[in-house]
Amino acid sequence: FETGSLAGLRLTITAGPTREPLDPVRYISNHSSGKMGFSLAQAAVSAGAHVTLISGPVNLATPDHVTRLDINSAQDMLQAAESDTAQCDIFIACAAVADYRPSAVAEHKIKKGKEEIMELHLIKNPDIVATIASKVNAPFTVGFAAETRDIVSYAQDKLVRKKLDLIIANDVSRTDIGFNSDDNAVTLVTADQVTELPMMRKRQLATSLIDHIAQLYKANR
Ligand code: PMT
Repeated sequence: FETGSLAGLRLTITAGPTREPLDPVRYISNHSSGKMGFSLAQAAVSAGAHVTLISGPVNLATPDHVTRLDINSAQDMLQAAESDTAQCDIFIACAAVADYRPSAVAEHKIKKGKEEIMELHLIKNPDIVATIASKVNAPFTVGFAAETRDIVSYAQDKLVRKKLDLIIANDVSRTDIGFNSDDNAVTLVTADQVTELPMMRKRQLATSLIDHIAQLYKANR
C-alpha cells in the first residue's frame, strides 16, 4: 500500500508555458521551462500521490509514475484541467498561462507588408485556476503568483480574487530564481499566514512545498 503525506490522493498539476498561435508558424509565449511544475509532480509521486501533469511545450522528461498530458494553448489547458480535476483532490496551477491570445489565427503565414507598424488584436484567455476553484466540490486549489513588485499584496489579491486555498508567490524580476532557472525562492500566502521559503534548488523546494500543501489540505478537510 501507499505511504507518504499524500498517500492515495489524486493531484492534477499544470506546468510550463502556453503557446497562443498567430498563424501556422508563429505564436505568443513566455520563458517558463516547466522545471518548477515537473519538480512538484516528482515530489508529489514520492509523497504517495497519483499525479497527472498537464504540460505546455517544454524540454523535460516525464517523472516516473506521472501521467502526462501535453497541450499547447490556454484553451486546451483549460479543457484538460476541467476533465482531470473532476476526479482530483488537489489542483496545483504552476503553468505560466498566457493572459491573452491573438483574436484570430491566420490560416496562412502572415506576409510582411509595407507598413512600419503592425497592430495585433488580443483577447483574454479563460482563467484556468479561477475556473476550477469556483466549481461546486472544487479540489483544494493552489495557485502560483509571478510578481515583480509588492509580492505579498498582489499574491493576497490573487488568492481572494481567484478563490484559492493557497498561493505560492515568486519574484520573477530576478534572473537567479523564477522563470527558467534551477533555483527558486517563494512566499506561501493563505488567508491567515505568510511563510517565506529561502532560495534553494527547485527539486528541494518542491519537496518542501508538497509537505506544506499536504498539511494545509489535511487541516482544511
Ligand atoms: O517553469 P519554470 O521555468 O520552472 O518557472 C516557474 C514559474 C516562474 C513559471 C512558476 O514558479 C510560476 O510562477 N508560475 C505561475 C506563472 C503565472 O502565470 O503567474 P500569474 O501570476 O500570471 O498567474 C497567477 C495564477 O493564475 C497561476 O497559478 C497561473 O497558473 C494561473 N492562471 C493565469 C492566467 C490564466 N489565464 N489562467 C490561469 O490559471
